[in-house]
Amino acid sequence: RATSGSATFAALSRACPLEHADARNTECARQLREAEKYEIAAQGDDYADSDLKTTNTEALAYAKAAATVLSMDVRLSEWTENLAGLKRALRREPFLGDFRTAQICEFVSTGSFEALRSFERNEPPIGSDGQRRIVNSARRSMHGAAAKREMGSVLGIGWRTAYQLYEGEHPTLPKVRSLAELKALRDSVPPSWRFGLDHHDELRNPVPAEEANAIRAAVLEIVDAQQGVEGGAWQASWVGGARRRMWPGHDVDLLVWHPTKAGSWGAATDECVLGQLLGELERRGLLRTRAEAWQMRSLNHRHRVAIESADGGTVRGHRRDHTLRMGVTTHGFENLSHDKTDRCFGVWRSPTTGEHHRVDLVVCGLAEELPFSMLAWTGSRLLNRLLRQRAIDLDLALTPHALHARQDMTVVIDARPGVERREIQLRALQEIPFELM
Ligand code: UTP
Ligand code: MG
Repeated sequence: RATSGSATFAALSRACPLEHADARNTECARQLREAEKYEIAAQGDDYADSDLKTTNTEALAYAKAAATVLSMDVRLSEWTENLAGLKRALRREPFLGDFRTAQICEFVSTGSFEALRSFERNEPPIGSDGQRRIVNSARRSMHGAAAKREMGSVLGIGWRTAYQLYEGEHPTLPKVRSLAELKALRDSVPPSWRFGLDHHDELRNPVPAEEANAIRAAVLEIVDAQQGVEGGAWQASWVGGARRRMWPGHDVDLLVWHPTKAGSWGAATDECVLGQLLGELERRGLLRTRAEAWQMRSLNHRHRVAIESADGGTVRGHRRDHTLRMGVTTHGFENLSHDKTDRCFGVWRSPTTGEHHRVDLVVCGLAEELPFSMLAWTGSRLLNRLLRQRAIDLDLALTPHALHARQDMTVVIDARPGVERREIQLRALQEIPFELM
């Protein structure tokens, strides 16, 4: 396809290590990702702002720049004496425009860059037009990014609430300028925030490896006992950061799946693997209930929804989201908004240490969708996004469930050892057959 010269294609063709061979690149990428997090804290994640639904382009630009800095051959430590040469080298890299290039050059000469320093001081950063960004395009104040980020990281408080608190726009609480001030108001905040406030530091600690292993073992033991092991055992795979880095971060993400069986089969809460699992975890006191702590469940029972397709077969309704038809590019944002996977985000209480940890439990509903669920839940967010953008460039749509044609087309499966060359005719929205994935 003509788009193979695109920056997305170039970025996806590279290996993006967790650490660059040059420690300066690793540090630069870390700072760019910090700036991404401040941008999200200051102006919300993509499409999350009901006043202005759009891509947070600044956050995306920082995420892409961080990936480039980790995956490029340019070694930043070798260019401290030749910033003009560095600038030329960086401009040849994918996703680095004039502004991000200038920020990386500033990092090479000073060890940091202005926008990050401003964010850390709760001040608005200077934008690419040289002006201080006092408000964003939704007219929201860019002040206080560090305080907003800290308050927004409390379980149960999102970026929007943190914004209201900092700016004095909360309907019942006074202006709150830091997490410490918010903690002092503990008894007057809504009850749903109290668990998160009381356990904030504990929930931010990395989950110890032995605890993560114990969580996985408990989940598997319960699922095996509830679902039986005929036809092959149930599996619980690490996803999220644990799968990418080989060690868990602040939470444990587990994808539960079976090689042939469906994960949900009825309409009632207990007619799916996850509903039954959650019931038992709560009964054993391993998972904090909704009465005790923040918990978010999404049980979709999507296995039941089979609809007739035009060619007489059946397709699954959840895989035919109408937004797949959209002609406009969304920069591959779709993310988890198209995800109909059964999932629960909650709080685990260790039976041995009594410590609390965030857990995300996800059940793959249909065995054939496993590769797509695995990819979507492993991340990173940016990798998912670039893959979806690449699919859009090819007139395809990649979701956490399938790969679809966006219009009538012929898909050619190239010959490779053991696989014959095939041409498949697809109509708009039809899935590329799973057996070819
Ligand atoms: P996490 O928020 O746990 O992120 O989401 P993470 O990548 O594991 O990072 P750490 O280690 O916990 O800090 C788990 C996965 O869910 C998907 C991504 O694939 C992510 O890696 N996800 C999550 C999204 O695609 N979009 C989201 O908004 C959130
Ligand atoms: Mg995680």
